[in-house]
Amino acid sequence: MFEGLDAIYDELRRLQKEGVGHIYIDDETKDLLKPALLETKHRKRGKPVEHANLAELLKKPQPVEKTVNKPVKEISIEPLPAPPTLEVPEADKADQLNWLKKSLLACPTCNERKGASEQLVTGDGSPDADILFCGDAPGTDEAMEGKPFIGNAGQLLDKIIKAMGLSREQVYCTNIMKWRPNNNKPYGNRPPNEDEMTFCLPYFRAELEIIQPKVIIALGNHAVTGLLGHDPKVKFGSIRGTWQTFQDIDVMLTFHPSYLLRNDTLKTKRMLWEDLLAAMAKVELPISDKQKGFFLK
Ligand code: URA
Repeated sequence: MFEGLDAIYDELRRLQKEGVGHIYIDDETKDLLKPALLETKHRKRGKPVEHANLAELLKKPQPVEKTVNKPVKEISIEPLPAPPTLEVPEADKADQLNWLKKSLLACPTCNERKGASEQLVTGDGSPDADILFCGDAPGTDEAMEGKPFIGNAGQLLDKIIKAMGLSREQVYCTNIMKWRPNNNKPYGNRPPNEDEMTFCLPYFRAELEIIQPKVIIALGNHAVTGLLGHDPKVKFGSIRGTWQTFQDIDVMLTFHPSYLLRNDTLKTKRMLWEDLLAAMAKVELPISDKQKGFFLK
């Protein structure tokens, strides 16, 4: 009936099964949903509405083709091969990071798994950063641009970094996984699975070896699983806000900014902020009284 709605419905069911309670809906998806919602409303009033009338009502052509007809590359269901072996060459950090990017771009498995029009995504920021923010995997925006954390979650991360008195250029942001996990659909993001993260870990480890941050801030449950492994007995809520270690580097486990986009409460913001205050103290960043009081009533 409405092109694209079945696909949205399937995706919402999938997210619901994964336990997601709230979702962010982008404008394109809202535009797809609008005609259906309007028709339902009019049917309830006993007035079926023609599509043509709807188009008039909406006063905006529906971007259906753009969203639905985008070519989708089928993902390989073959198990992933063994993770690559990488040896960071002796060089300055800039050359090492260039080498890492080239190695990633030449990785046959990563290229085979990424979407046809998507890019592989390495980290960016200061090669001398004390703080490294670690997400799980690039999303649609990141895979389009080949840069980490530039979509909605990334923009919130920018604000968080600014609240810490820093800029994106002073920290390093990256993901464990280097391609956007493909879900055989032209929309939506799926969290990476453990095999995918395990495959990409050597690239992340090489980034750590080059940057040598004092602290890693692991953003969200999936990044934490990628770093520490999955333990079904341990709930993210019980370890969030704690310090762990990865390759002898202190890791603060905190919320993913996308979680904050869905749970925009003072309490959640304060919880995340306290984790960040702890990380700031660990790297001996100055903390003002104003910063100490952020998100308190
Ligand atoms: N979420 C992540 O974990 N990483 C990104 O780069 C973007 C969104």
